Amino acid sequence: MTSPRDLVLLGSTGSIGTQAIDIVRRNPDRFRVVALGAGGGNVALLAAQALELGVEAVGVAKASAAQDLQLAFYAEASKRGYATGDFKIPKIVAGPDAMTELAQWPCDVVLNGVVGSLGLAPTLAALRAGRTLALANKESLVAGGPLVKAAIQRPGQIVPVDSEHSALAQCLRSGSAAEVRRLIVTASGGPFRGRSRDELTQVTPEQALNHPTWNMGPVVTINSATMVNKALEVIEAHELFDIAYADIEVMVHPQSVIHSMVEFVDGSTIAQASPPDMRLPIALGLGWPDRVPGAAAAVDWTAAHTWEFFPLDDTAFPAVALAKAAGETGRCRPAVFNAANEEFVEAFVAGRLPFLGIVDALQRVLESTPDFDEPGTVDDVLAAESWARTHAQEIIARSVEGA
Ligand SMILES: NC(=O)c1ccc[n+]([C@@H]2O[C@H](COP(=O)([O-])OP(=O)(O)OC[C@H]3O[C@@H](n4cnc5c(N)ncnc54)[C@H](OP(=O)(O)O)[C@@H]3O)[C@@H](O)[C@H]2O)c1
Repeated sequence: MTSPRDLVLLGSTGSIGTQAIDIVRRNPDRFRVVALGAGGGNVALLAAQALELGVEAVGVAKASAAQDLQLAFYAEASKRGYATGDFKIPKIVAGPDAMTELAQWPCDVVLNGVVGSLGLAPTLAALRAGRTLALANKESLVAGGPLVKAAIQRPGQIVPVDSEHSALAQCLRSGSAAEVRRLIVTASGGPFRGRSRDELTQVTPEQALNHPTWNMGPVVTINSATMVNKALEVIEAHELFDIAYADIEVMVHPQSVIHSMVEFVDGSTIAQASPPDMRLPIALGLGWPDRVPGAAAAVDWTAAHTWEFFPLDDTAFPAVALAKAAGETGRCRPAVFNAANEEFVEAFVAGRLPFLGIVDALQRVLESTPDFDEPGTVDDVLAAESWARTHAQEIIARSVEGA
C-alpha cells in the first residue's frame, strides 16, 4: 500500500470543498488533507473541518476573519469536549495572498475549489510550485488561459474537476490527440430549458437559484440558468485540450448522465456516463489517473432509461456563442466576459437587472471592449477585469435609471 496523497483544499467550505472532504473521510488510506483555505465567510465550518482533519495550515482570504477563525477553533474544540492541550490550532494564514501561500504548501495535489477569477493566483502558484492541480475553479482558465498554460511544467499537471471536463479527459483516453474530431460538451439546460426568449423575461432570482440537477453555490447556479456556466466551460475546454472553438459543440442533455463526449475521426463517439454526482469527478481529480472505488453510484443498468439530446437554442441562451467569439478573439476578452458576468449576476440577485439583462449586458460590454493585449501577467488580467467591472457597473446604473 502506498502512502496517502497529501492534499491542499482551497474553497473547502464550498460545494466542491465539502464534497472533497466527504471523499477524503471515506478514503483515509488514499488521501490526507494538510491544508485548508476559504474566503472567511464561514469560519465555524472551516475550524470544524481543520480540527477534524488535523491539518497543518488553514487560511482565509479575508484578513479580518483571522481572529474570528482563532475563536472558532476554541468554540469547536469546546463543542467536541476537548480540554486545552488536547488540540493544536494549525498555522493560520490570512489576507489576499493566503490562498497563494497555501497553494505552495508541501503536498501532492492542490484542489482549487474557490469561486471566481480570484482563483487565478492560487492556480498559477500551485503550477509553478510543481503541484498537481485538481482544477474546479474554471474562472482561472477563463480569465488567465495564456498565463495558466505558460505556468504548466509537465503534461497532465492540471486535472479537470468540472464534470464535463473530467468526462472529456476520460473520453480522450480512447484515442490520440490527432484522432480527435470534436468535443461535445453536454448541458443540463438549467431550470429554464426549453423556454423561449420571451418566456424568460419574468424570471426571478428565486427561480434561477433553483437548479434541477446540481447542488452548487449561488453564482454557479445563476450561471447555469443563463448558460454562462456552459460558456465558461467551452472556453475552459478550449484551453485545457487545445481544441479549436469551431470543434466544440454544446448539446442540451436534461438527464445529466452523459457528462460530455469526444467524437473521433473514424466516426466513433465516446461518452462518459454516471448519475449526476460531483463526487465522481472530484475523486478522480484527487486520485488521477486512478479511479477511487465507490466514489459515486453507477448507472443502474437493470432499469430502463431515456437519454435525450437537443441542440442549444442560441436565441434564448446566447451566452455560449458570445463566449466562443470572445475566446476566438482572445486578448483578455474571456476575462472581461467573466468579470462583467460576476457583476451582472450580483445585480440580478439584488433585483437591479432582469434575468435576460445579464447576457444582453454582457454582449454590450464585449462590443465596447478595447483592444487589450494577450495577458502577460496577472496584473494584465486584473486591469482588463477592472475595466470590465467599471463598465458593467455603468451599464447596471443606466439600466436601473431606465427601469
Ligand atoms: N459546485 C459544483 O458542482 C461545481 C461543479 C463544477 C465546477 N465548479 C466550480 O468550482 C468552483 C467552486 O464552486 P462552488 O460551487 O464550490 O462554490 P461555492 O459553494 O460558492 O464555494 C466557494 C468557496 O470559495 C471560497 N471563497 C470565496 N471567496 C474567496 C476568496 N476571496 N478567497 C478564497 N476562497 C474564497 C468560499 O469560502 P467562504 O465559505 O469562506 O465564503 C467557498 O469555500 C467554481 O469555480 C465553480 O465554477 C463547481
